[in-house]
Amino acid sequence: MKTLLFVDDEPRLLQGLQRLLRPMRHEWDMNFVESGAQALAFMATQPVDILISDMMMPGMDGSQLLNEVLKRHPQTVRIILSGQAGPEAILRLVGPAHQYLSKPCDPEELRKAITRSLALRDLLGNERLKQLATRIKNLPILPALQNQLTEELRKDSPSVERVGEIISRDIGMTVKILQLVNSAFFGLAQPVNNPTEAAVYLGLNTIRSLALAAGIFSQYEQAMCKLFSLDALAQHSWLTGGLARRVAQAERQELKIQEQCFLAGLLHDVGQLILASGLPEEYAEVIAKSDQQNLPVWQVEMEFFGATHADVGAYLLALWGLPNPIIEAVALHHQPARCHTPEFSPAIAVHVADVFAHEFSAARTEVPVPQLDTTYLTSLGLAGRIEMWRDNCREAVEP
Ligand SMILES: [Fe+2]
Ligand SMILES: [Fe+2]
Repeated sequence: MKTLLFVDDEPRLLQGLQRLLRPMRHEWDMNFVESGAQALAFMATQPVDILISDMMMPGMDGSQLLNEVLKRHPQTVRIILSGQAGPEAILRLVGPAHQYLSKPCDPEELRKAITRSLALRDLLGNERLKQLATRIKNLPILPALQNQLTEELRKDSPSVERVGEIISRDIGMTVKILQLVNSAFFGLAQPVNNPTEAAVYLGLNTIRSLALAAGIFSQYEQAMCKLFSLDALAQHSWLTGGLARRVAQAERQELKIQEQCFLAGLLHDVGQLILASGLPEEYAEVIAKSDQQNLPVWQVEMEFFGATHADVGAYLLALWGLPNPIIEAVALHHQPARCHTPEFSPAIAVHVADVFAHEFSAARTEVPVPQLDTTYLTSLGLAGRIEMWRDNCREAVEP
């Protein structure tokens, strides 16, 4: 049975939660405590799968508690329940919380968030990688883009479109603002897939606070993992996103799907960034072996870690509450045949765009170049479209 721990200084609220979640009592071991100190004491005695904490509490508040839990029990999923959504609250939670739910909370929403997080725990088999991903507060970003962003924000009248564009060139910044904007804090009816739209929702003030707050956007140090270049990955990711959108356009998909394709393409290799920054030495060995023996990098990852960059990336994005089609496309980009959707989806667009991006560009992040799964595309009746997609995408890269 999975163990859940709820923390709130208001006994009435805890009783309410207890009542609401009663139907789940045979599946979940639910525990309720009234302060951060009690929560830490409880966690010292037994492992907790998910912690759901209030934000405003006397003594240790939600953000302090989550930071402490992150240090002491990095494997626990951390969800915050909060009534405030101002920039200041966001800034304090943006690191330590995996998900944000707004108060008063809809029981169905809460049940779904918990069920989803629990299902995820079983998705990634490897405990070490699970810990690695659960521990991450923020992904490292490219120093050059951070400078561009601060420069734009310092202008007298910064352009939100320009800000969105700079953000969308960086994997770490994009993931962070989409995590925020898609959280229940903003209560949007539809998930946001477009970084510029996300920037508009968050507002320039919040983005400025995020960009300038220490430690939220931490810079990637090139020396961390030999053979891995975040610059090359950023270029490859940006190109893959653009090509995935073109494939969707060629298929006359609606704008929402086009945006999902771009975003999923931009984020498809986020797992490489997680592995290179979290396990730099081992990951350097993985890249070296893939290079020397001409094996697909994800196969070598499987050998080393029992999971691939696609698995770890999808796990992190799911943990951070990004939209499902994005997670699916990231998870399946090397093995689209594992997809259960019988028609065109972002998973297919990203798989194809990833291969084209390697074909067309010198920014090769994987050696050998990944191959199209033509058997799968044929089974979907899409084999006849490949050449048209390729021509269409080539136009985008050739001047
Ligand atoms: Fe990949
Ligand atoms: Fe890739």
